[in-house]
Amino acid sequence: MAKDTPQTFYLKDYTPFGYDVESVHLTFRLSPETTRVLSKIRFAPKADAADKTFFLHGEDLQLISAKIDGQEVAPEVTDKGLSCDVPGAPFTWEAEVEINPAGNTALEGLYMSNRMYCTQCEAEGFRKITYYPDRPDVMSTFTVRIEGDEPVMLSNGNPMGHGEGWAEWHDPWPKPAYLFALVAGDLVNHPGQFTTKSGKVVELNIWVRPGPDEGKCAFGMEALKKSMTWDEEVYGLEYDLELFNIVAVDDFNMGAMENKGLNIFNSSCVLASPETSTDANFERIEAIIAHEYFHNWTGNRITCRDWFQLCLKEGLTVFRDAQFTSDMRSEPVKRIEDVITLRARQFPEDGGPLAHPPRPEEFQEINNFYTATVYEKGAEVIGMLKRLVGDENYYKALKLYFERHDGQACTIEDWLQVFEDATGRDLQQFKLWYSQAGTPRVKVSEEYADGTYTLTLEQSTPPTPGQPDKAPRVIPMAVGLLSPNGDEVRATEVLELTEAKQSFTFDGLAAKPVPSILREFSAPVILERDTTNAERAFLLAHDTDPFNRWEAGNALAKEVRLAMVLDGAAPDGAYLDALEKLVRDDDQDPAFRALVLSPPSQADIAQTLFERGYTPDPQKIYDAAETFTQTLAQQLETSLPRLYAATTVEGPYAPDADSAGKRALNGRILSLLTRLDGGEQAARQYAAADNMTQQYTALAALMKAEKGDAQSQAFFDQWNDDRLVMDKWFALQIACAAPQKTAATAAALTNHALFDMKNPNRFRAVFGALAGNHAGFHHASGEAYALLAENLIALDKLNPQTTARMCAAFQTWKRYDAGRQSLIRARMSRIAGAPGLSRDTNEMITRILDA
Ligand code: PHE
Ligand code: ZN
Repeated sequence: MAKDTPQTFYLKDYTPFGYDVESVHLTFRLSPETTRVLSKIRFAPKADAADKTFFLHGEDLQLISAKIDGQEVAPEVTDKGLSCDVPGAPFTWEAEVEINPAGNTALEGLYMSNRMYCTQCEAEGFRKITYYPDRPDVMSTFTVRIEGDEPVMLSNGNPMGHGEGWAEWHDPWPKPAYLFALVAGDLVNHPGQFTTKSGKVVELNIWVRPGPDEGKCAFGMEALKKSMTWDEEVYGLEYDLELFNIVAVDDFNMGAMENKGLNIFNSSCVLASPETSTDANFERIEAIIAHEYFHNWTGNRITCRDWFQLCLKEGLTVFRDAQFTSDMRSEPVKRIEDVITLRARQFPEDGGPLAHPPRPEEFQEINNFYTATVYEKGAEVIGMLKRLVGDENYYKALKLYFERHDGQACTIEDWLQVFEDATGRDLQQFKLWYSQAGTPRVKVSEEYADGTYTLTLEQSTPPTPGQPDKAPRVIPMAVGLLSPNGDEVRATEVLELTEAKQSFTFDGLAAKPVPSILREFSAPVILERDTTNAERAFLLAHDTDPFNRWEAGNALAKEVRLAMVLDGAAPDGAYLDALEKLVRDDDQDPAFRALVLSPPSQADIAQTLFERGYTPDPQKIYDAAETFTQTLAQQLETSLPRLYAATTVEGPYAPDADSAGKRALNGRILSLLTRLDGGEQAARQYAAADNMTQQYTALAALMKAEKGDAQSQAFFDQWNDDRLVMDKWFALQIACAAPQKTAATAAALTNHALFDMKNPNRFRAVFGALAGNHAGFHHASGEAYALLAENLIALDKLNPQTTARMCAAFQTWKRYDAGRQSLIRARMSRIAGAPGLSRDTNEMITRILDA
């Protein structure tokens, strides 16, 4: 197919495959450049099938032979797959293909990472392993024989036997091909065991390469056991095999993958030790282990009918892992963190050229739809549903979902039907959340007279690509009211906004109340409300909802910074006083205080300016952030040393949420202190640190102050043989660079001996940090745009999937001034015109350019 006419797939075109797949037998003869894959598949025509076309997907395969019922056949082969005349009755298909794992830098299908064989099949990678109906609604049992001289050879399900040079596996649970996995290499296991609530003993393993990684498995193993217990206790779901394997690989496009019984993890998402991982790493690892484990039911036992339904498994599983983290750690802190990421990643997507509904209706390359919208907004939609039907009904519906759909490949319609049947609620209008893109704006106005308070809510959603007009949605607005003296006069109540404009009244109030709206961030919307900084400060001090208390502080911080950017105002004194009071208030959770002390990101300020109709100036936003932090440090000057001492966590490192929260606060204080003491305290902390959190925090503070050269060198010398720690070192230099030096810093690092284009973690460390340094990336010179574009063009030849994802760095381009827009457009046009551009990258760049 020519590059300018890429194929588009549509939800409305869904047709079932005309054949059942009764069983799959695969034999792998492993060899780095010439692996042979022999398949033996039992097909049975479906009696009721409208379409009996026999087409098997296959890409980058060399077909050696094909047989039907033992007879050689000559299928018609294209670069997408093969078709063949087949019998009208059940038959056995056999094929032998050759593939080249060592040459597979796209990291999709069977590839090699660090001399180890591994696979990645979601979404459409199995077709790079053998010819197959590679679609999630085709489910079958897999029996796998691996032949090779690797010491450890794993696949899904249970081991059936092994000997010199071979191993056999059988997975009794029918599954789609995207959940297939194979791993082979020199690996050692960190073992564990779990007894399910019904008394079944499950053997657990985390597999790593021999060496230092062996000492980094204990935390992940504990997280796995906690996840297994939690899913039994909260959802009543038990594990269903005798074995659960996790393997850590260094080269991986995503975080991790839920292959049945054989999860494969990016090593950055499973390996942890106090010396090499920060508190944030520990929290993320616990969440991702839980996420992949939870997929066993929400994803594997019940899977997706087609890839348009991706949020059926991802939204639900993200929602479940967030519940888990809230239970293991702090519920409000987790909610605040999630909203920060939602606003940083999903809101820009939803408000720009890449906007799409949680259930998209068309795509060219499905890999481009593993997005914040499908994952995070998909989870928000479930959170709203739960709030609307109530906890009891939610779990009733989930129980019905598992009973009714176990073993099936389902749709969003099936999911909503379960809720309608379990609760009697009509979800017709709610369903718009799945089909409409864009972040709704909710405009708030209020009135008070004779003891009655009226809240009027008005919703509208800006146009998004392909969706100029939007119907009103059901928006659950959790609202409470405070009296002017700070008491709560109305506890939280969920107002259901269903119309474009609607009023809600509250009677019997002695005075005009202060509303606390969108508590717990009950819906992924943007609130528009005219209010004062005094009222925000009041809510920061008095709101009973911790999320909204943080939100009030965050909104206040934003207003202060916006006034600095737009009017050149000085940082608001009242706000600085409120912050100071909060920092010193030891009754407040340290993690919460750390969050309130973390200023809104510069990208967030830019986003807000854009939402309000201004053109953001990245340098001005940077300068305001610097001035603000410097002023805050000065305001706190006399108390900083004491606060630093009081929040320092003594004793051996433990990654628990409480200690992590204290270290987060301590880290914020250190970064302020470093602005005043020339880095003395940070240098002391760096020298004394016995864990990565404190080492990294000290290094970051020093580098930000341009006082960290010696420590940066020492850090490199200490850790240069640890890939994950080196990723931090690469990223930190770019994240801390001043705007005018950011691009040059990144460029120099791409010439470093340890820069490795083929390793997605390293590429992301450099270019993720570049795109994440707002003022540096958008520096008026345009150097950063050029550097990213050239490297994306180079990476596209090796790894289209990661290249395409990183194109999203350009998605906000229309926010900026004409000069920056034309610089970015020129760079994107260069990418678009690069010879042999992948379908993945082409789709992304085209969508962004068409904005
Ligand atoms: N399904 C994986 C998850 O969310 C993500 C993933 C997608 C991994 C595609 C690899 C490839 O857990
Ligand atoms: Zn997932």
